[in-house]
Amino acid sequence: MNTNRLSKTIETALNIQMTKEAHASQIYLAYAAWAGNQGFAGIANFLFKHAHEERNHMMKILEYILKRGAEVDVTAVPAPKENPVSLFKCFEKIFEHEVDNTKAVYKVAKLSHEEEDWATWNFMQWFVNEQVEEETLAMNLLDKMKIAGGEKMSSNALYSFDRDMEKTSGEVEAAQDVTTVNP
Ligand code: FEO
Repeated sequence: MNTNRLSKTIETALNIQMTKEAHASQIYLAYAAWAGNQGFAGIANFLFKHAHEERNHMMKILEYILKRGAEVDVTAVPAPKENPVSLFKCFEKIFEHEVDNTKAVYKVAKLSHEEEDWATWNFMQWFVNEQVEEETLAMNLLDKMKIAGGEKMSSNALYSFDRDMEKTSGEVEAAQDVTTVNP
């Protein structure tokens, strides 16, 4: 008896999204290491924590695929592209990456809707909500930097921003503590 309750299309789409989350984790990890190297300990801490959160997203999808009796396909994760050239560019890239990931999440949600796979559609709503949070966070940080001078931020402004980020890192909730009902 076949206990797999995911269609081949959904199974593939979820596996692709799972790898995308792992890729996001690698991007945050690379940027965190880069920021740490530049002496921005607060920003590095925030980005390391976010790398962990993206890994949690990956695990959330992996566990769901297993729960539906389907096959998990763990593949190679693409390497992050080159390091940013400035802190402002770093956060611009993060924002762009989150918007890009939202599109990927919508794709899976759309497929599940087309296939009337309501379990997966419901599952993907958690990611839809999460992306709103993540895009907002990235946008707010970018706005903060723009107000402080963007690319031309003074050393003082950079110092304060880095210190603020030390506190911001505690505000991101870990994925495993979040449910669809309590996103
Ligand atoms: Fe898991 Fe930042 O998206």
